[in-house]
Amino acid sequence: MHEPRTEPAISTSEIESWLGGEYPGGDAALAHDAYAVTLQEVGSEVHLRGLVEFSNRCNCDCRYCGIRKSAGTQEGGSRLQRFTLSEDEIVTTARRCVEAGYGSMTLQSGERRSASFVRFVVRVVRRIKTETRTSVLPKGLGITVCIGEQSEESYRRLFDAGAHRYLLRIETSNPDLFARLHPRCQRFDDRLEALHRLKAIGFQVGTGVMIGLPGQSLKDLAADIQFFRSIDADMIGMGPYLERSLPVGTDELDTDLVSRLSRPDRLRLSLRMIAATRLVLRDVNIAATTALQAISPHGREAGLAFGANVLMPIMTPKTRRGNYLLYHDKPCVDEDSTACVSCTVARIHGIGRPIGMNTWGDSPHFERRMRSPA
Ligand code: 5AD
Repeated sequence: MHEPRTEPAISTSEIESWLGGEYPGGDAALAHDAYAVTLQEVGSEVHLRGLVEFSNRCNCDCRYCGIRKSAGTQEGGSRLQRFTLSEDEIVTTARRCVEAGYGSMTLQSGERRSASFVRFVVRVVRRIKTETRTSVLPKGLGITVCIGEQSEESYRRLFDAGAHRYLLRIETSNPDLFARLHPRCQRFDDRLEALHRLKAIGFQVGTGVMIGLPGQSLKDLAADIQFFRSIDADMIGMGPYLERSLPVGTDELDTDLVSRLSRPDRLRLSLRMIAATRLVLRDVNIAATTALQAISPHGREAGLAFGANVLMPIMTPKTRRGNYLLYHDKPCVDEDSTACVSCTVARIHGIGRPIGMNTWGDSPHFERRMRSPA
């Protein structure tokens, strides 16, 4: 295993105190220190991954998720229409990412393990890798895949096709809480095993959790950060938990899925989680996720101020966005990708940060890990 860390380990109880608002000097000092570590370890540049939500078909039934298998209705009460973008549509969107100067994209969808689905994604990855080569991106767009748990062989085929990063959130590192949020067939141990397999294959691996889940304690969240460290994650994506749409039609809002934290409290806690993760893990890539913006109009910028260095502007075609609502109040649903491109650039420049244009923006932690392997 990789063992370059020399800083003394930070205890779970210390992290828990920061999450509870007891960082010495308060949240402003926490943000300040996290940003200082960001500058030192990963630089001031914000890296972009054009997010293409290419299919909302899903075989999982995660209780919190708006596109879970049994979801029948959508926010507002309309019927959820299942879709999968065509190969050409996805490749066209990838080209838009290149035109916008994004060096990387993320392919996200519901989880399906059928041979035909995996074949489809492998083909798409191959095409994107060959059809997005330009003089500034000689190896094509960097591709992150986020399609849930798959077989080891499928991971390998995706990697061989040219995807080099994989995101698979653990959702919570507390196995009991995980069990309450998922049907019995979705097992915590399988998720953990999947993360290890992805790393062994050579992916840059990202994981993350939802923050403010019903039944989640500050100690759980502090343990989540220690979990990220224990699996030696390269990338972290996490955001506030948001209840899915209100009970309409066949979708019943389970009362035990209502968070006991107010939305402002969830935002505050999410920002503290980002900062604490930066202070503990230091050289990883951390995303300021869309869910932050669902709570606050400037939630993602706040995430950057607290130590995040990656943004994932939504590039999904506008006509499909309304059918990819993982949670209530998802932002940018009525925007098209051109608007998202200019809005993202303006937001990042608005806070005085440079953008990592036309580069993959790999996790420095991964690069160091590769230079000093076991
Ligand atoms: N609130 C916040 N995040 C959610 N996700 C799914 N449903 C919700 C929700 N209700 C997140 C999960 C998943 C990612 C794609 O979206 O963490 O891994």
